[in-house]
Amino acid sequence: TSDVANDLADILVTEEEIHAKLAELSRRIEADYEGREILLVGVLRGAVMVMADLARELRAHVEMDWMAVSSYGSGTKSSGVVRILKDLDSDLTGRHVLIVEDIIDSGLTLSWLLENLRSRGAASVEICALLRKPDAVKVEVPVKYIGFDIPNDFVVGYGLDYAEKYRNLRAVAVLAPHVYS
Ligand code: PRP
Ligand code: MN
Ligand code: MG
Repeated sequence: TSDVANDLADILVTEEEIHAKLAELSRRIEADYEGREILLVGVLRGAVMVMADLARELRAHVEMDWMAVSSYGSGTKSSGVVRILKDLDSDLTGRHVLIVEDIIDSGLTLSWLLENLRSRGAASVEICALLRKPDAVKVEVPVKYIGFDIPNDFVVGYGLDYAEKYRNLRAVAVLAPHVYS
C-alpha cells in the first residue's frame, strides 16, 4: 500500500508536542545566549525539520550552517569513526555554536562531532537534540537542550528516516514491524 499511515504502529510524539517543546527550549536558549549571536549547525539530513522549526521559533539573530557526516563502514555505526561528507562553510573562531540534531541514538555521531567542532576555536559548542534513546546510548554526550527521551523503538518522522523515507511526517512515529521484517 502507498498509505503511509499503514506503516506506522504508533504516534510517539505529536506535532503539537514537538512545537510546544521547541518553544520551551527556545525560551531557554534565548535567555542563555542573551547578547550573543548563535551559529546553528544542523546535521544533514535528519536535523532539517528541527533546524527549520527551532530557528523560526527563536526570537534572536541566528545563522544557520550545515554538516553532513557518515559513519565508516556500511550498516554498522559501532566504530564511532565518522567521515565528513560536507563540511561547514563558516569559520567557527570565536563563534557560539549550537549543534542541532534530530536524535541521539548510540551517541557516537554527536560525541565525535562535538570534539571536532570544539577543536576549531569556537567560543562555545553546545548541543540541542529533539530526541534521545537512553537505552541505546553507548557514549554519554553532554546535551544542554533535550526534547524527549524515548524508548529504543524504530522511530521515523520529523526528519528521521527508514531507508530515506518517512522524513516528511509531521510527528515522530514508531515504524510497524511489517515494514522492515
Ligand atoms: C541518524 C540521526 C543522527 C544519528 C544518531 O543519522 O539523524 O544523526 O543517526 O545516531 P548515533 O547517536 O548512533 O550516532 P543518519 O546517520 O541515519 O543520517 P541521516 O541524518 O541522513 O538520516
Ligand atoms: Mn542524522
Ligand atoms: Mg538516517
